Amino acid sequence: MKKLAHALAATALAIAVAPAAMANDCDPGERVTKFSHVTGGTTHPKVVAANSFAARVNKELNGVMCVEVYPNSTLFGDSKELEALLLGDVQFLAPSLSKFGSYTKKLGVFDLPFIFKDMDAGMRFTQSKTGKSLLNSMEDVGFVGLGYWAAGMKYFSANKPLLTPADAKGLKFRVQTSDVAKAMIAAMGASPQPMAFAEVYGALQTKVVDGQENTWANIYTKKFFEVQDGTTETNHQMLAYLFMTSKEFLDSLKPDVRAKLMRIANDVTIEANNSVKAAEALNRSNIVKAGGTIRTLNAAQRKAWVDAMMPVWKQFEKEIGPDIVKAAANS
Ligand code: LMR
Repeated sequence: MKKLAHALAATALAIAVAPAAMANDCDPGERVTKFSHVTGGTTHPKVVAANSFAARVNKELNGVMCVEVYPNSTLFGDSKELEALLLGDVQFLAPSLSKFGSYTKKLGVFDLPFIFKDMDAGMRFTQSKTGKSLLNSMEDVGFVGLGYWAAGMKYFSANKPLLTPADAKGLKFRVQTSDVAKAMIAAMGASPQPMAFAEVYGALQTKVVDGQENTWANIYTKKFFEVQDGTTETNHQMLAYLFMTSKEFLDSLKPDVRAKLMRIANDVTIEANNSVKAAEALNRSNIVKAGGTIRTLNAAQRKAWVDAMMPVWKQFEKEIGPDIVKAAANS
């Protein structure tokens, strides 16, 4: 236990001192590739993983290929990045699994409320036969999944205390572009407002929306907690990313370069998933240190959230695929 605590503390420290944005390091003659994502800060698991991937490629494929990282929606935001990947304007992305609704319904399984007991269950599902098959469920579109990056469990924040779903009645919540997430908010008696990640802070601040749902990393690094009454530890979903590239880009690489790239992608994925819990613990404690309010639920309150949201499963089971839902629920 002590050893584990030390390892977690060391990882947390490494994350805490990671540079804000990695210096892009392309030399003349190298094939320049771009990694675009929407998150920021220094303690965010996606920032750390994207920078680590770029650093490894820049070193191990030096002279052949380099990766430039564009965080904080500075190159492409949510609405454009998938299209940009297909157009060859960017080569690497790691969007949330909730953002693929116009390409596949199957990934909606990750948005079913309370389908995963905790992050370990969610990660087990990603490693299962069904989970692995979903990684490349959009091959026909031209997307190649390089790995799942777990980001953390999700929690609701709002401009008033939320202890039961009844507290959320009538409020407006920002959601990602997911039909399942929209239905979940409606099941709480609230209104869903799909919106790009880059717009969430402003929308909370100006009260265009009353609340949102996210991981500790996003709530901390985007300062959502500063413009909300508090965050409730609902643990209602796991947020995970699809670390991805395009088939066209992969097919354009020489076999030895592709093999090296795939090995690095795999190593970085393992490293990212091994450190995500420590990163989330650090982001949570940073919110508390900065004066943010976090509320926990007792068993009866938690049950009220589960009861309110469970009908959403039935609504989407058929379009996601009953076998996929079953495999996720049993993981
Ligand atoms: C969100 O839009 O809330 C998240 O998917 C952002 C992210 O990439 O973590």
